[in-house]
Amino acid sequence: MTSTITYIRNWQKAILAEILHLKKYGSSRYLMLNGQLLSKSDSYTYFFDIPAPINVPKGATIKVEWGTKKVEGRILSAEGNNVILALEEDIGIDLTEAQLLHDPWELLDQLYERLEDIRESKRKRARIKKLLDPSMPANHPADKVKTPSHELILRSKYNPVTYIWGPPGTGKTYTLARVAANKYFKDQSVLILAHSNQAIDVLMAEISTFASSKRKIEDGEFLRYGSQIGPALIDHQSLTADFLLQKDHSNLSEKKAALFEERRLLKKDLSRSFSKRDSDQLIEIEKKLSGILEKIKKREIEFVKNACVIGTTLAKAASDPVIYEKDFDLVILDEASMAYVPQAAFAASLGKRVIICGDFKQLPPIAASRHKMAEKWLREDIFHHSGVSAAVNNGHLHPHLFLLKEQRRMHPEISAFSNKHIYHSLVGDHKDVLEARASIAARVPFPGRASILLNTAGSGHYGMKDGNSNSRINLWNLLLSFQLIHETFLGGGRSIGYVTPYRAQALLMEQLLSELYEKERAEADIIAATVHRFQGSEREVMIFDAADSFPHERAGMLLTGKDSEKLLNVAITRTKGKFMHICDLDFIQKHVYKNKIWRQLADHQLQNGQAVDPEQIGRWIKNQHARLQWMHARKREKVYMDLSNAQKEIVISLPVSDKLDKEWEEALSVRSAQAKLTLLTKNNLPSIKPDRALLESLSFPFILIDGKVLWLGMPAEAHKNAMPPYVAARLDSAAAGTFLKTQLNQRN
Ligand SMILES: Nc1ncnc2c1ncn2[C@@H]1O[C@H](COP(=O)(O)OP(=O)(O)OP(=O)(O)O)[C@@H](O)[C@H]1O
Ligand SMILES: [Mg+2]
Repeated sequence: MTSTITYIRNWQKAILAEILHLKKYGSSRYLMLNGQLLSKSDSYTYFFDIPAPINVPKGATIKVEWGTKKVEGRILSAEGNNVILALEEDIGIDLTEAQLLHDPWELLDQLYERLEDIRESKRKRARIKKLLDPSMPANHPADKVKTPSHELILRSKYNPVTYIWGPPGTGKTYTLARVAANKYFKDQSVLILAHSNQAIDVLMAEISTFASSKRKIEDGEFLRYGSQIGPALIDHQSLTADFLLQKDHSNLSEKKAALFEERRLLKKDLSRSFSKRDSDQLIEIEKKLSGILEKIKKREIEFVKNACVIGTTLAKAASDPVIYEKDFDLVILDEASMAYVPQAAFAASLGKRVIICGDFKQLPPIAASRHKMAEKWLREDIFHHSGVSAAVNNGHLHPHLFLLKEQRRMHPEISAFSNKHIYHSLVGDHKDVLEARASIAARVPFPGRASILLNTAGSGHYGMKDGNSNSRINLWNLLLSFQLIHETFLGGGRSIGYVTPYRAQALLMEQLLSELYEKERAEADIIAATVHRFQGSEREVMIFDAADSFPHERAGMLLTGKDSEKLLNVAITRTKGKFMHICDLDFIQKHVYKNKIWRQLADHQLQNGQAVDPEQIGRWIKNQHARLQWMHARKREKVYMDLSNAQKEIVISLPVSDKLDKEWEEALSVRSAQAKLTLLTKNNLPSIKPDRALLESLSFPFILIDGKVLWLGMPAEAHKNAMPPYVAARLDSAAAGTFLKTQLNQRN
């Protein structure tokens, strides 16, 4: 028998290995532009524009890299389109472009420290022992059980550890919410934990809805603790610290808002011009803000002390003493498959009782190190290490496992795939779910159909890699997805999710939505994220954008590697009523083996008549968005007009350039004198004289005018490999324009 102390020591080894790995290789990189020095004192304060938002907490240690040099520093603030950094050294005068590097290892450091504390506490060690070896007999009165929620209430009252396993949509979160509310009604303190902010939001919203349907809940009794609160809590603002602050300390809250606004306006001016006075003022605001934020922090500590049910992420819990120094009657960990084993152990150490809930067929934790301790403890979940999943796989029931196996989320046409290919018929559909979801499937696009494969074969070679992060991007899929969102919204859909395996693609969709769909988003829940971030959430309509396509010669590891079954499982099972999968069938059939789950999904959809071919595009696109228009690529009047209206520049990508006809030459020759022409092509074109020629080309044709109007799939003759119908899309978006220009700069 391994002692708990030995476990802890091994976990610490695993964490150290991961930290070392991250320090060596694993930085996240972000592009920064137009840097300006704000002030010099103990450190150097810089201001940079950022083309894409960055996900780095305030105060985090970072590095800045430019050319071959690197300097360490800290993030002072990062919101909107710019960052302020404090660096240890002067980084010179040419600040047009630099990279921000962030290693997210600080969180691991904190977990390491918590394990250090646990080693000293006999009581905490005993809790962890039971978590890892739940061999004690079950003490709850099984004969008294009335409903699944009641069983869980009894189990978590009589037993120190309870595991819940259930496939997606079987009501895990639904049941947890009822148990948490019940404990609250009995005056017990409850801590709700999960890996992701989204999962916490979903569970806290459900607890609050359920509990307030039973009795009046006073403000402050339920607290969603943390700063990254998402759209799932829009109707539950009273759970947030911001709300309580506004209510009880409105002066602080208003001061903070005023300073934020002042800073926002000042930064807007700074992006245009920069004076010494402006930068002094900015520094002054930053100082005042940190004073106010410190005072707010003190109030938040009070909020936590007074709350009965607190929800926060595992990372926040391990880094914030207000949480980890407290002891709770019950700790609930949802989405436990995503937590490191040492995190699950830390969670268990905080409460007299613990419930570990999740699905080991969903996404596992992410760790990069190949150290044997990291492989063992950071890449396999707690279900595995406690022996609970082995029991399920052998067809046994573990005495401390509570099983849910009837799914109530997905339309049966959607669950048919996951039930069969992922859960091997361990799970079934609840009898009412078809009726409950039919009305969502009935709406446009594709009325009456719940599962669709939108095939892009022959549309062109749109696969590419983001030069900055190496994550994959596919602009054609991106625009088709946006169109699906638009059709869904106009058809009455108000709950729409877009997921993709790739971070860069998700980010670009998020930017496109903020730019083109802000108004619609105010009245509908529309969100774009990676599959990892979506675990635990659900939406009525889901778009799954696989993104991988030609000219890649292989599908990415996310879609075909060891954990691809889990990724696909999560992507599909978020859907209530309409699932739309965008992929290139030709690419899958050529480059993905039949035993891979992605291929199986495509084959399943094809065999069940769910595929929609590119020729049908004119039938399902019913509504052109003013800023995204689709047309036949042979119709050129509009693009010619855009070319003649160009004010500053025209960039044309021509993967194949010898087939262009005279008309294109003419259209380009009448451009205004200020509009500089850049040609991206491998072969020189004798007939068109560009102002700049870049020999590197992208694999698909496009025209970008004044950095904002993008014609994708135009000129159609310049496609490397595309089949009729030749469709082009005209997108009016600064975000897409900036993205493409950044890519070109990086490649040339
Ligand atoms: N007993 C129930 N009665 C009515 N609706 C239910 C019940 N259980 C679950 N549901 C509904 O089914 C859907 C899925 O439930 P829930 O989100 O709890 O699933 P889950 O098991 O947590 O899934 P995931 O693994 O994706 O997190 C929700 O819309 C929920 O409201
Ligand atoms: Mg859930």
